[in-house]
Amino acid sequence: ATGLTTIDPGFKNTGSCESAITFLDGEKGILRYRGYSIEELAEKADFLEVAYLLIFGELPNDEQLAKFHSDIKKESHVDEEMKKILDGFPKSAHPMGVLSSLTNALIAFNPSSVNVSSESDMYHAIVRILAKFPVLVAWTLRKKKGLPLDYGDDSLGYVENIHKMMFKRPSEEYKCNKIIIDALDKLLILHADHEQNCSTSTVRIVGSSHAGLFASLSAGISALWGPLHGGANQAVLEMLEAIEADGGDTKKYMAKAKDKNDPFRLMGFGHRVYKNFDPRAKIIKVAADEVLNDLGIDDPILAIAKGLEKEALEDPYFVDRKLYPNVDFYSGIIYRALGIPTEMFTVMFALGRLPGWIAQWREMRLNGEPIGRPRQVYVGENLRPFVEVNKR
Ligand code: SDX
Repeated sequence: ATGLTTIDPGFKNTGSCESAITFLDGEKGILRYRGYSIEELAEKADFLEVAYLLIFGELPNDEQLAKFHSDIKKESHVDEEMKKILDGFPKSAHPMGVLSSLTNALIAFNPSSVNVSSESDMYHAIVRILAKFPVLVAWTLRKKKGLPLDYGDDSLGYVENIHKMMFKRPSEEYKCNKIIIDALDKLLILHADHEQNCSTSTVRIVGSSHAGLFASLSAGISALWGPLHGGANQAVLEMLEAIEADGGDTKKYMAKAKDKNDPFRLMGFGHRVYKNFDPRAKIIKVAADEVLNDLGIDDPILAIAKGLEKEALEDPYFVDRKLYPNVDFYSGIIYRALGIPTEMFTVMFALGRLPGWIAQWREMRLNGEPIGRPRQVYVGENLRPFVEVNKR
């Protein structure tokens, strides 16, 4: 064939694969991981349990979960040489750029994680990155704050340990705050997978060339960085702060969002699949109230967000286009309450999405899927003869 006659920009109507991992119903606002509802998992499971479920397909029993966690702990060492790469970045570097680079750099220190031919090779690559990525996340945050880099504590839970590496003050004992750990756990679960979104499709297509898990994840981190995707959670907070600085003038921003000549979009609103409420946004909105209340934080930004949501849900422009709050609309308000800097919000999204990316990469490899290579409709020049430079 000389090419196709029609294309599908943004793959709005293209199915790229068969997958048994996550089920979405955009009309009904349903999200399930391996058949379990997101509502139940967010309430009853913990993040490492959900990571196991997404990757291996079943909820682990006590013994399986304990072995998974101990296999991860054994791999939590990050080569000290990696700090030289981290030190090469200016403090002003965006953490998503640092992390996509460090994830790629990890390959040099874990060469056996590239050519994974057996399931046991895959398993080792998987536990390695689940162990090391949180260390890189914590190092990136501490470098930005000018704090000494910290190491994990094997006596802590998976999420608790992440929080400890990120926030333990050098001179203090680490004290776990259950409210904060539970909130983080829930947020990470809610971000864990979302079928064939932009960054997951990126992980699958890079992985389809057999570039290896870490290289595929590094590409996924880059895709997630964009403000139309995971980067929206940072953009939402920046938008809400701008509205607050403008005296809470939500109407001005609503008008900008509807103005076709203005590139500004209402960040945290709209979704390619959900044409109803994003079920994750519903859960996070309730959690935002609970967490801020439990922590005794009165953040005016939350009231602005609720006001903006109410206006948008009553505005024909948004209603006609079925634009509802998505996962990124309220998540930043909780991250902020947990003391996470705005520039790290999308990193938290990546931390949550890591098991989903891994699960989707593993499924693609185990299914022996072919290398991703779409076609095009050619609209360029027909054949023409070369012209010497002195005749152009
Ligand atoms: C995530 O895919 C996933 O699952 C992603 C994600 C995941 O878990 O992996 O759910 C995470 O990325 C959530 C989305 C975060 N992004 C944002 O909040 C950025 C703001 N949202 C938009 O940029 C947009 O809604 C997208 C990118 C989310 C979806 O874009 P689509 O599906 O390509 O929709 P579109 O751009 O074609 O919009 C349809 C119409 C257009 O108007 P018309 O041309 O029909 O007049 O709706 C308008 C758009 O202009 N529109 C918006 C809008 N979103 C869509 N107008 C103003 N503000 C918005 N937010």
